[in-house]
Amino acid sequence: MTTTFSPSRMVEELRRRSLRPTTRPGPELISLAAGDPDFPTPEHISQALTDALAAGATHYAQPQGDPELRSALAEQMTEVAGRTIGPSQVAVTHGASGALSATILGLIDAGTRVIIPGPTYSLYADLTWMAGGEVVFVRHQPDLHLDLEGIEAAARDARMVIICNPCNPTGAVYTQDELEDLADIAEEHDLLVVSDEPYDHIVFDGSDFVSALEVPGLADRLLYVNTFSKTYAMTGWRIGWVAGPQAVVDAVTTMHRAFNGPLNSAVQRAALAALTEPTDAPERMRREYQARRDIVSRMVGNVSGLELVEPEGSFYAFIRYGSLEPEVSSVDVVARALEQGVAIRPGSEFGPGGEGFVRVAFSTGRERLIEGMERVLGILEEIAEAE
Ligand SMILES: Cc1ncc(COP(=O)(O)O)c(C=O)c1O
Repeated sequence: MTTTFSPSRMVEELRRRSLRPTTRPGPELISLAAGDPDFPTPEHISQALTDALAAGATHYAQPQGDPELRSALAEQMTEVAGRTIGPSQVAVTHGASGALSATILGLIDAGTRVIIPGPTYSLYADLTWMAGGEVVFVRHQPDLHLDLEGIEAAARDARMVIICNPCNPTGAVYTQDELEDLADIAEEHDLLVVSDEPYDHIVFDGSDFVSALEVPGLADRLLYVNTFSKTYAMTGWRIGWVAGPQAVVDAVTTMHRAFNGPLNSAVQRAALAALTEPTDAPERMRREYQARRDIVSRMVGNVSGLELVEPEGSFYAFIRYGSLEPEVSSVDVVARALEQGVAIRPGSEFGPGGEGFVRVAFSTGRERLIEGMERVLGILEEIAEAE
């Protein structure tokens, strides 16, 4: 007998509200859509996985994460923060995605207001909705940096603000002043601040990246999220982490244990090698992204009617081709690009304020990037002229 089945209300609600894409482009397309580095994972990390398996790392790990890995992460963060972060304040998770879900589901109740400055990574809103929280979008300023006044105005009765730095999809890298001002607002309104920083090693033009870890005013209220996915080209390994004040991380860890239990033991040993063995791989990848960013900026700059706030970090360019209510929606632009064999992402996927933009990822080699960009710019130029 076949069983009758209907998805849970949470799934229905998620399908109805989510802005996230449900499909991935096939290999026949030039993909300028993926948040996935086109570089291989460095050899010594893969070797460390093989070695770990041979050494018997095939059983349950500790639910909060491999103690040695947590110590290495804590040490690294302590150095960046200039204050002690202990291994017990770290939970190792299934990528930044796992860190974000445990954090939001562990800290947000039904009706709780969560401020999401955007356009930004769409998972934050989905998770907040799943938790029953209320998403309060605050649009970035025209230069795609934080609208601190807007955040302050939304802060009353809110519990959390979630920033992405460097920002996916805008490429903005927030300044120390911006983060300090955010810390003042958070202090005044007693907000928890989640800072999701997967692209912290991909920053351009020699500028220094300031992590939220370095802002003393955030120390008591920061949930710091990061991942091995982008820095070490390890998206498929599914390993990231979250760190913060002890009591808060304890709550997050309870949620992580309930949802996931311990992570893959051998992968955690390989992540330890990524962190501790000297390598120039992240810097080599960063240099290549910088060269590609320069190509994309130059190409967009040659097309009238388009605007690009030059990405300061990440591997995304957020190209403006129209108003917030354009004649041709960003979803339609994506469809036209697909007809021409190129995958890109619509600005509307990244929340209010994203319409009139498309996101191009330069996680593709130069030759295909240039070919794909030529086709996309041809489409955008035509639309921008008609706008
Ligand atoms: C801003 C941001 N946060 C989190 C993630 C998810 O990272 P992970 O693969 O580690 O789950 C991504 C992936 O694209 C991202 O861009």
